[in-house]
Parts: sequence; structure tokens; C-alpha cells
Amino acid sequence: MLYVANSERYSNMKYNRCGKSGLKLPAISLGLWHNFGGVDTLENSREMIRRSFDLGITHFDLANNYGPPAGSAEETFGKILKDDLNCYRDELIISTKAGYYMWPGPYGDWGSKKYLVASLDQSLKRMGLDYVDIFYSHRPDPETPLEETMGALDLIVRQGKALYVGISSYSYEQTKDAVRILKKLGTPCLIHQPEYSMLNRWIEGDLQNYLLSDGIGTIAFCPLAQGILTDKYINGIPEDSRVAKKTGFLKSEHVTTDKINKVKGLNEIALLRGQSLAQLALSWVLREGKVTSALIGASRVRQIEDNVKALDNLDFCEEELIRINTILSG
Ligand SMILES: NC(=O)c1ccc[n+]([C@@H]2O[C@H](COP(=O)([O-])OP(=O)(O)OC[C@H]3O[C@@H](n4cnc5c(N)ncnc54)[C@H](OP(=O)(O)O)[C@@H]3O)[C@@H](O)[C@H]2O)c1
Repeated sequence: MLYVANSERYSNMKYNRCGKSGLKLPAISLGLWHNFGGVDTLENSREMIRRSFDLGITHFDLANNYGPPAGSAEETFGKILKDDLNCYRDELIISTKAGYYMWPGPYGDWGSKKYLVASLDQSLKRMGLDYVDIFYSHRPDPETPLEETMGALDLIVRQGKALYVGISSYSYEQTKDAVRILKKLGTPCLIHQPEYSMLNRWIEGDLQNYLLSDGIGTIAFCPLAQGILTDKYINGIPEDSRVAKKTGFLKSEHVTTDKINKVKGLNEIALLRGQSLAQLALSWVLREGKVTSALIGASRVRQIEDNVKALDNLDFCEEELIRINTILSG
């Protein structure tokens, strides 16, 4: 059926400025790492993208290797874009990345200029796009000079194949070096994409302070710890969960008793706040405005609807934060 976007789509979403740039991102963005591959149902993927856009989610995050098979999430997105969202292209922020293994031989992995430039050309073809809004170096490469990787990002912007660039999973030291090189080249680093959630707080301190003071945005990936920070694993592993899926990156050994005990404690706080645990986890990531956007994943429409409601309650009192910290450090 012909898709017409909800005319109210911008009334409830919150848009945050990405660092000191001119770009605003929705407080909740949707990532296509899982559930949009060739192994998944196209119609479910389509419903999730349509519903997201109707809820004001304007940012969709991809990478060359998302699937499985690798590349197929970009193909799925390209198809949905062509069928449903073509006339909304200027209302969308589409990102992709290169940095993990994509094709055999010495030029299909890590951070060389050869790999990044070729990979983005392939991504653009798969998605049927002339340009992406954000292109990322997906991970730091210990063997390629950082000047070369950042030079590739700068080149890609100058070629008009990306409007902005970002880095993902770079440490504090690597980030400082990357930002300095990019500044010198005249292509500022728009955004950092690190993992960040109640169960993974590595960015707090040096990296987060640096990003804030230098005017670089932060988009937090896996804010729900791939689903652990929801109520779904409290009573075991459901059949329709990422852990139960053969192609999922979350394995049963990651769902430890220690984590589930924490989840149970956090769930009590969520209930007192009138939130689902997923909503609590997202509100917490977005607290105090230090993170530009929480980059969620979803396997069905109702999860996206549930998650967006986190924005109704982003404030925490001191006592709640102390209780949360006590649970997390227990
Ligand atoms: N830069 C990087 O290196 C990197 C790495 C990883 C991810 N990412 C990005 O981050 C995005 C998000 O990653 P993620 O999918 O792991 O994020 P996540 O939001 O932590 O986990 C998403 C999963 O949680 C479950 N879920 C979501 N909402 C729920 C709800 N309301 N109630 C119950 N369960 C819920 C679903 O699992 P079920 O499938 O079990 O229903 C869903 O697939 C990716 O798509 C990608 O764009 C980037």
C-alpha cells in the first residue's frame, strides 16, 4: 500500500543539536544492525522504518556489513527508501560505516583509504543514494596511519559522497588525535558513536568531557545492551529474542545472573517512575543532555513505540540516580 507519512510526525520527537554543528538529530535514532538483513522479513523491516519515521525518527544508521548477509541491510533500506521514502529524502539523516571485514583480500577490512572509499561506493549503490549524510570510520585501525583514515573521510566529503563524518569506538586518545587531524584537513568530526548504556559506561569521564567541550555530538549504540536492559530476559530466554536467533550477536552466556539481578533492581525503579525498563534505560542514557541521540535497535514495531515514550520522562532526581548507581555497582 502506498505510504504517506504521518503529518504529525514532528510534534512529539525531541531534536538535539549534534555538538556545535548545524545538524539536529532525533533523541532516538534507529539502527539496522539486526532484523533488516536478507534473512529477515522485508515487510516487518518496512513496517518498522515507516513507523519510526511517523514517530519523528529521522535518523537511520547502517554499516556496510549489517545483515546477514553483509550488505543486505543496506539493500533492504534502499528498497524501502525507493518504495516508501523517496520523496522524504531531504527529511532523513542516513549514515553508514566501513571498518569491519567486508570482502576478501587486503582491501576489504580496517581503515585504509582504499577500503573506505571503495566501501562507501558499494554502500551508495546498495542503498540507491548519491550521498549519505554521515560516514563513519567504524573502528580504529592500529596498522593504518590515522592521517590516512581521516584523509579518506575528508576526501569522501570533498567528493560529495558524505555531508558529515564521524568515528566509532575510538578511545579518548584516538579521538583527540582524529579530531585534530580532521580539523587540520578542514572537515570537522561531527559525531562519535560509542557503545554506552547502564551496563557499559566506559565513555564517562575523559572521552565524554572532551566530546562535550569540543562540540562533538555523541550517539550511543546498544543503549539497551542488545535487549538485556529490558524486561525480556528476567524470566529466561524467550524464543523470539536476539539470544535465541541463530544470527544474533547476543549469546546466552552474555545474559548472566549478575546482570539479571541488576535488571530486576532497575525494573523496580522503572515501575516507580511509571516507565518500562527499556524506557528507563533510554532516559538514563539521555539524562542531562550529554548524549545527542540514543541509537536503538528493534525487532518489531511495538518496541519502537515503547522506546520513543522514554522521552516523556527524561528527568531523574538525585535519589533515583544514587539508587541506580548502587544497583549498577553492586
Ligand atoms: N558502531 C558500532 O560498532 C555499533 C555496534 C553495534 C550496534 N551499533 C548500532 O547501534 C544500533 C542498535 O544496536 P542494538 O540493536 O544492539 O541496540 P539495543 O537498543 O541495545 O538493542 C536492541 C534490541 O533490544 C530489544 N528491544 C528493543 N526495544 C525493546 C523493548 N521496548 N522491549 C523489549 N525489548 C526491546 C530487541 O531485541 P529482540 O530482537 O530480542 O526483540 C532489539 O533488537 C545498531 O542497529 C547499529 O546501528 C553500532
